[in-house]
Amino acid sequence: MQEIYKIDKSYEWNYEHGPTFEGEISARPEIQKKTKLWDFELNSPIGIPAGPLLNSRWIELYGKLGFDIPVYKTVRTVEWKSHPEPNCVYVDMQSQLTEKDVGGEAKVLLHAPKKPEDITITNSFGVPSQAPTVWMPDIGKANNALSDGQVMIVSIMGTPDVGRELPDDYGRCAKMAVEAGAKIIEANYSCPNVCTGEGMLFRDAETSSQISKKIREAIGPSVPFLIKMGLLPPDKLEEVVRTNLPYVDGFAGINTVAMNVRKPDGSPALPPGKERLRTGLCGHAIHSAGSHFTQNLFHIKKKLGADFVICGVGGMMTAEDLHGRLQNGADIVMSATVAMWDPFLAQKFHELINPSSYTRMQ
Ligand SMILES: Cc1cc2nc3c(=O)[nH]c(=O)nc-3n(C[C@H](O)[C@H](O)[C@H](O)COP(=O)(O)O)c2cc1C
Repeated sequence: MQEIYKIDKSYEWNYEHGPTFEGEISARPEIQKKTKLWDFELNSPIGIPAGPLLNSRWIELYGKLGFDIPVYKTVRTVEWKSHPEPNCVYVDMQSQLTEKDVGGEAKVLLHAPKKPEDITITNSFGVPSQAPTVWMPDIGKANNALSDGQVMIVSIMGTPDVGRELPDDYGRCAKMAVEAGAKIIEANYSCPNVCTGEGMLFRDAETSSQISKKIREAIGPSVPFLIKMGLLPPDKLEEVVRTNLPYVDGFAGINTVAMNVRKPDGSPALPPGKERLRTGLCGHAIHSAGSHFTQNLFHIKKKLGADFVICGVGGMMTAEDLHGRLQNGADIVMSATVAMWDPFLAQKFHELINPSSYTRMQ
């Protein structure tokens, strides 16, 4: 267990000084069968979702570690400051969270769990972004840092009150990312840590589809485009899938599960206070929720006879978890929390399974 992202340090510190990795990166096993993702031929269906990979140095390291589909942390059209540190704390959550737990109570865990696979954290950054003059050239560097058989996704988000309507800002951000070299776009519609509504778009079938339409118009027909969602009941999920389907090529989920996280004395776990009481849980405690989300999405895909990519995210802590989510119907799978402490997860997956042996649900 090594802490590659230093959770007691600020976002800025990790951006400037990270990643801190020690160890040797061993050669990959021979790849028997490539994973097809749209027009890309990839070494494996494993990635890191938007979050821990702050810039091209982070993308480079995790690419070398065998995560073949790294996602560049969400960027905006304007520079945006992070919430103050700490942005992540361990959470004491033994049970698996469901839709009913959203908005419920949780307590911090004062000591790190012994094994990476047992980690649940809450994270709250407020989706910080460097200025476009910084992130746009860095997207090119990050692309260049990857090897054959790898592709980076760029996560984007609109920002309210920046002199244009929110849908237009989403479109503009996506277009800027493509101009910077993004080969696949993911729009973040789900973040419990922003207080201005754009983090809850995934619940709103109508508004989210209007934004997806704007993004599609902005990036043109040929750039693959996913939307990132949070936990939703199956009927609501189907509604959101139906309205967005004309414009998107895939759905990614889940994002974190929002809860009120407190210290043992009852005060909010993260500074400065009650306005940041509600934060997003991820890691071990959202394994079942993420798994159900993929299963539901897969059933919707079958029911609609639709052809879209399912990007499974949420609570996959081991190589076996990643494999299980692929069997549940995901086309590609990504782990954030555990990869901040277990840099060898992708290698373990590659050792566990030869991609030609995946058995899919029919
Ligand atoms: C440190 C950290 C930062 C994150 N930042 C973002 C972000 O900027 N955009 C986004 O869409 N999701 C973000 N997420 C959410 C992850 O992409 C993912 O949906 C969530 O952590 C669940 O996966 P996990 O259980 O493997 O961690 C972040 C997660 C973590 C741990």
